[in-house]
Amino acid sequence: MKILVCGGAGYIGSHTVKELIGNHEVVVLDNLTTGNSFLLDSEVIFEEGNLGDGAILDKIFTEHAIDAVFHFAANSLVGESVRDPLKYYGNNVGATIVLLQKMIEHGVDKFIFSSTAATYGIPDSKIITEEMPSTPINPYGRSKRMVEEILADISRAHQFKYVVLRYFNAAGAHASGEIGESHDPETHLIPIILQHLLGQRENIAVFGTDYDTPDGTCIRDYIHVTDLAKAHILAYEALRKGSISNEVFNLGNGTGHSVKEVIGVCEKVAGKSARVEYGERREGDPAILVASSGKIGRLLGWKPDYGLEEIIESAWIWHKGRI
Ligand code: UFG
Repeated sequence: MKILVCGGAGYIGSHTVKELIGNHEVVVLDNLTTGNSFLLDSEVIFEEGNLGDGAILDKIFTEHAIDAVFHFAANSLVGESVRDPLKYYGNNVGATIVLLQKMIEHGVDKFIFSSTAATYGIPDSKIITEEMPSTPINPYGRSKRMVEEILADISRAHQFKYVVLRYFNAAGAHASGEIGESHDPETHLIPIILQHLLGQRENIAVFGTDYDTPDGTCIRDYIHVTDLAKAHILAYEALRKGSISNEVFNLGNGTGHSVKEVIGVCEKVAGKSARVEYGERREGDPAILVASSGKIGRLLGWKPDYGLEEIIESAWIWHKGRI
């Protein structure tokens, strides 16, 4: 089957492309603004362009018999979304609407959407299930939530089926060591710690030590990017078989780790000590975000293969390989 991967040169997109090739033909649409453009497998058909460009989408859907679209192309920094909300509504919602319009026009009816734990806002419970209220607290989370609602409406009006995957904290790198997590600027905890341990940063700033958690630092649910990638393929196969349609799934490990714990595991993996500065809270950070991924386990048989230490080991190998 031929699959269009929007944002297939980015962090999670490129790892999913790696899982797809071999069993599927892959067309990648990416504008290479934030992506890992250093890797695109030769088997992949690559189109450089923007998601909101109807002409390029017409070309792709006319030239290729696309069976499904995986949509990773989005801006995803919470802080930036607060400062520049129109960028988020324009790229994450506006451009996605163009993509969805073109899918409907060309009769492409299966869609796998990258959503986020940021759609939950500040949750009432420590373990988050999909039925909990979705009340995002920043433009990034709202932009993803809006698309989720648009998808529900489209599926009622048209021949169209979708799966929403709400990622918790994606991390780690591919087992080949060829691709991994890199953003510019980097804001994510694990790459920042590893860059510091490699001497590429002076220190690590911990954002907040007075949260209502055992050690006072925020707790997150870190999930290996390859586990995420595999979930997309399971979701697509289930949509194709018709065993599910129009579902929302959390994707996390179900275990929370504090910022201090993550630093400790990074130090252990790297065999070095970090210089840590304890600072103020970062705006918009909930104290604890941990997923229940029971639903995707029950319906699709998904379960994560990697825990925190393995995630960090894979990231460390990749970061070291880039020096
Ligand atoms: N943190 C620090 N210091 C840093 C960077 C991060 O202490 O230099 C802390 C953050 O405050 C947070 C934790 O480390 O408590 C994880 O932060 P990340 O920036 O790595 O990840 P977030 O949890 O903020 O964000 C991730 C995704 C978002 C998504 C969000 C859902 O990157 O796209 O999860 O909650 F919206």
